[in-house]
Amino acid sequence: MQLNIFKDYQTLSLHAAEAIVETVKSKPTAVLCFATGDTPRLAYELAAKKAINEKVDFTLCTFIGLDEWVGIPEQNTGSCRFFLENLVFQPLLIEPARIHLFDAMSADLDRECRKMDEAIAETGGIDLMIVGVGLNGHIGFNEPGVSPELYAHVINLDNITLSTGQKYFSGATALKQGITLGLKQVLQSKKLILMASGTKKAKVIQKALEEPINNDMPAGIIRTHPQGQAMIDEDAAALLHLQSTAPASE
Ligand code: F6R
Repeated sequence: MQLNIFKDYQTLSLHAAEAIVETVKSKPTAVLCFATGDTPRLAYELAAKKAINEKVDFTLCTFIGLDEWVGIPEQNTGSCRFFLENLVFQPLLIEPARIHLFDAMSADLDRECRKMDEAIAETGGIDLMIVGVGLNGHIGFNEPGVSPELYAHVINLDNITLSTGQKYFSGATALKQGITLGLKQVLQSKKLILMASGTKKAKVIQKALEEPINNDMPAGIIRTHPQGQAMIDEDAAALLHLQSTAPASE
């Protein structure tokens, strides 16, 4: 695993944005899978700006959804779809045909999962996956204890996820389950970047990166990925004994 510790959120976001744009420069038909949430928000904004300024065309890329809140309609400003539409798809002019997101309102969620598994298989695999980490160590909605063998699935959300998840919604919102790619698909992505920022993530980052790997800490999977890169800021690294690895971080 490569570990890059950046001095602050802005610098972390700049470097993550660069990694995104470089991926598409070297492979214009890249298959991309992006987490939503507060952590990668600025990286996506900067990536879109950089792509526009440098005329890097994302319109041949395919986008795969990482996860979604079950029962939350797409127009809801807290949905993962709404986030990606605004920060990624609209600025980069991505056509709907190139976007595969979970329909979390579907009456047949199992079918949604199989459709997603097939969509990924048809693309030939995800080239770059960007994930965040929950306070409980989840990635996507792979909650502690989940089997690393799962593909897309529906999962009952952990209490921590249910309460922290409220921050994305404009009013109190009933949340219960998530629909998510499985850890198998996280591990199968060709390149995996895990981002974390802020002191509130320091404890979970220390556990994920330094404690023995087990199913109770899904984010630990970053260490088993052959192209895994943890990109974090100094606040999130506050409890780590590990040092930043090459290339040198700022
Ligand atoms: C959301 C997702 C989640 C978040 C995680 C961290 O699509 O995959 O796993 O990445 O909950 O969220 P933030 O970045 O808001 O702290």
